[in-house]
Amino acid sequence: MSLKKAIEFLVETLGEIEIPAGELKTKEDKIREVYEEASRCKKCPLWRGRKKMVFGHGNPYSRVLFVGEAPGEDEDRIGIPFVGRAGSKLAQIMLKYGIKRENIYITNTLKCRPPSNRDPKPEELQECFKYLKKQIEIISPAIILCLGRYASLVILGEKRGISYLRQGEFYRFGARIFVTYHPSAILRKPNLTPLFEEDIERVSKLILK
Ligand code: URA
Ligand code: SF4
Repeated sequence: MSLKKAIEFLVETLGEIEIPAGELKTKEDKIREVYEEASRCKKCPLWRGRKKMVFGHGNPYSRVLFVGEAPGEDEDRIGIPFVGRAGSKLAQIMLKYGIKRENIYITNTLKCRPPSNRDPKPEELQECFKYLKKQIEIISPAIILCLGRYASLVILGEKRGISYLRQGEFYRFGARIFVTYHPSAILRKPNLTPLFEEDIERVSKLILK
């Protein structure tokens, strides 16, 4: 069979290629849909206290996802994660290693602020995980960095301490997963800064390579 004939045969046998409508949506479209759903969410009691639902921010095409804990007062007011004191600490250290906010996508385990920034409750984490899971599916990051114990808990099901977990590397959701301290922990205990910087540097080498 000539090449021309072979191609004609292939094209005939393939028939019409149907692309499901969903596949034509961009990542921005898909993220926006889940954002809309979460802004109406009443699945856990935290919706009552929120000023703004804090969904996530950054580049949905990024290969890197950072996951924090929950919005604080500034995030709740503005609607963007990590814009308060912990956020500026994180941004400052990220920049030191060449990572800009637009290089990553950043979100939290909870999308609404817990009253007086109390710790997330297991029921809240469980309910809200549905949104984080969808974000992971849409973005399909190659690298996930868990910032603190609640991110490690929901992403890895890990209860062991950060000092232990940060030394390893995990695989889940098709991604390489790393763990480091929450930036608020760095503000409380500045002696952890060199370790935190080491972890950010390790991730920066993977992002920027
Ligand atoms: N701490 C978090 O975990 N997330 C934020 O968005 C802000 C502070
Ligand atoms: Fe819904 Fe999550 Fe907000 Fe709870 S924290 S109301 S599960 S979006």
